[in-house]
Amino acid sequence: MTQEYSDGSVFRVSKGGDNRSIVVLVAMMSEAQPIVDALGLKSVGRLHGAYPIEHFASVQRPYVHLVVNGKCPRFGVDNVASQPAAIAAFLCIEKFRPAVLLNAGTAGGFAADESRVGDVYLSYPKVYFHDRRIPIPGFEAFGIGSYPCPDVRTMAQAIGVKTGSVSTGNSLSSIREDLEMIRRHDARAKDMEAAAIAWVAEQHRVPFIGIKAITDLVDTERPVHEAFLGNLHTASERLAEKTVAAIAYVERFGVPPQADEVSH
Ligand code: ADE
Repeated sequence: MTQEYSDGSVFRVSKGGDNRSIVVLVAMMSEAQPIVDALGLKSVGRLHGAYPIEHFASVQRPYVHLVVNGKCPRFGVDNVASQPAAIAAFLCIEKFRPAVLLNAGTAGGFAADESRVGDVYLSYPKVYFHDRRIPIPGFEAFGIGSYPCPDVRTMAQAIGVKTGSVSTGNSLSSIREDLEMIRRHDARAKDMEAAAIAWVAEQHRVPFIGIKAITDLVDTERPVHEAFLGNLHTASERLAEKTVAAIAYVERFGVPPQADEVSH
């Protein structure tokens, strides 16, 4: 099977997907653009007619697929948060049969953890939801999710990033209960997509790794939206540098093995 780039050149997709492929899922185009540029990727088109989810790839590394959630046609803004992320993850697994799903994006950090704007984290040991509060036996643990990630500690050292659990919710701002849940899990990065993708990855037994660059410090006085918009460009540059390094690491050493189950 072949697909055409928007400039007319042809990209080959092996029939039934390529088992070695590396899929990078990104929510916002401003987060994705520096990665697209650094890897010399080109737009291949939409992954599915019903969604504006865009696929980028290159002839040089046909096993690397970057997918961006695109813009909401009603509101004209990037399709952030859990639903588009889950659908993009499912479409990518069906189409590319990836060896790993990387979710590259930005996140809030915590001054209490000595995080700084521009720091990059690989998700380890787990990814959680912090805003699915269902205080009914059984459902509570389901809501939180606690998805284990591969043991990326050696990889993180090699590419010069930190490790920490990532906690996901559908809001940029936080309420007290969100922050309590994030602290309870000792999560170092607060985002809006990782756990949604990790859930899809778990259903299909595909390893999931979040790579998150810090744009704002949630536990400081500066309003989150102001810090996020002010630091998005710089953090996305750092994100691209480390995402390229993460891909190179996986190309060379393979996907790190899944961490042993630890209790939550
Ligand atoms: N992405 C960047 N900063 C964030 C925050 N504070 N919360 C959720 N997602 C984010």
